[in-house]
Amino acid sequence: MAVSTSALGTYSWMRTSSSPMAFELFTRKPKLQSFDRVHRGLFWPTLKKPTVTRSGRKPKPSISMSLSDVNVLEKRRLQTQTITSIAPDVTTIRSLDWDRDRFDIEFGLQNGTTYNSFIINADKLTIIDASHEKFKGLYLSAIKEHIDPSAIEYIIANHTEPDHSGLIPDLLDLAPNATVVGSKTCIIFLQNLVLRPFKSLVVKGGSTLDLGRGHLLEFVMAPNLHWPDTMFTLDHGAGILFTCDAFGMHYCSELLYDEDLGAIEPHYRFYYDCLMRPNCRSVITALKRIAEKDFSIIATGHGPLLRYNVAELLNKYETWSKQALEKQLATVAVLYVSDYGFSDRLSQTLARGLTKTNTGVEMMDLNVVDIQDMIECVSRCAGVVIMAPPSSGPANKAITTIYAAVKPKQPVVIAESYGGDDEPVDTIVQRFVALGISLALPPLRIKEIPNEATYQQFEEAGTDLGQLLSQKKSIEAKKAECP
Ligand SMILES: [Fe+2]
Ligand SMILES: [Fe+2]
Repeated sequence: MAVSTSALGTYSWMRTSSSPMAFELFTRKPKLQSFDRVHRGLFWPTLKKPTVTRSGRKPKPSISMSLSDVNVLEKRRLQTQTITSIAPDVTTIRSLDWDRDRFDIEFGLQNGTTYNSFIINADKLTIIDASHEKFKGLYLSAIKEHIDPSAIEYIIANHTEPDHSGLIPDLLDLAPNATVVGSKTCIIFLQNLVLRPFKSLVVKGGSTLDLGRGHLLEFVMAPNLHWPDTMFTLDHGAGILFTCDAFGMHYCSELLYDEDLGAIEPHYRFYYDCLMRPNCRSVITALKRIAEKDFSIIATGHGPLLRYNVAELLNKYETWSKQALEKQLATVAVLYVSDYGFSDRLSQTLARGLTKTNTGVEMMDLNVVDIQDMIECVSRCAGVVIMAPPSSGPANKAITTIYAAVKPKQPVVIAESYGGDDEPVDTIVQRFVALGISLALPPLRIKEIPNEATYQQFEEAGTDLGQLLSQKKSIEAKKAECP
């Protein structure tokens, strides 16, 4: 059992007998406090006492909030919000994307979104996640107002999608000696993004990094929440778990925390359904990994940070994921190629179509997959989706092993990635036909830059495949009932 103490109450996430993974608030629940009161420091967490460092530098305990001017880009308002001392030495710079109405083409938004970045002003100055490229001017100004960027020692990348890591190359311009910290997959992705040598540190689950002043960081691997590169960073000293996409929501507001549960809940659910539900098995694994950890704030990469309803909102992820898993009639392996053409987006859209029919999904990135893991995944899944890899490179090599792993009656779907150098789908189809494996659906071909119609086509293909597998299951069940 882990216990966190703050001025708001002492609370624990504990295992219960009825639900082994339930996060239960068993002592005083923090009362809902207004943003204003919290930010006047009246409810300042007392979990760590300020210390004086060897250099004699004292922490700045006062909390302040400032908003930048509003910039307008393509008729949309962009603004940054800087809130200092959300915990001792921890500041957040939130990029407020007030009017964003789509997240990629397939994910409609009602309340814009935010990209949350964090500064830990410890002995080793550290940034956790950055921001979207369109915030370059605003975000870098906010950073410079708060710290000397050349003194940054670490940049932690919990996840490498452009909304969080788009400005890491710019941070590295300002801090060329900084070390980028991430999972193995994350560092591979970043090498493709930064396109020049940089210092990096690959961490694993359980690795730690001591920043000084009590800020001991521990890394928790959380693959597929929402990409294979994802990890969480736990700051033991601050009692903050930084989770990037996980437990987030697309909801733009000046409110830093989750005090208005009624307003945010539908957005929390919608976000879960779109991004996390296809990977519900991975969500359960990640929840198990943090069940015994000690934190009082979840610092997400999108929307408000979770502080007042941590237990309740974690429990929702657990409940929804278990329900999704229970309903699953079959599972499909979706083999895609990260950072290549539209493979990421299109494969996720297809996965969402599958989950609509209660079909489970196991996403595997052909760029970084362990071949043995992939063979095992393909053989335990009822169906396989292959996004065309580039005509050379590690993803192409990986695909050659799939031909031998697919079973004759396993429904297969092949799709183009629109990456400019796709292995021709006809070549892939011919290999399967030669092995006596017929395709579940005609290959998904893309003639122009993917648009709304393309995403709809992929989502429907996922639904069609899911329905085919459920029909197959019910026929098998009927046959089994016959004497
Ligand atoms: Fe993401
Ligand atoms: Fe994100």
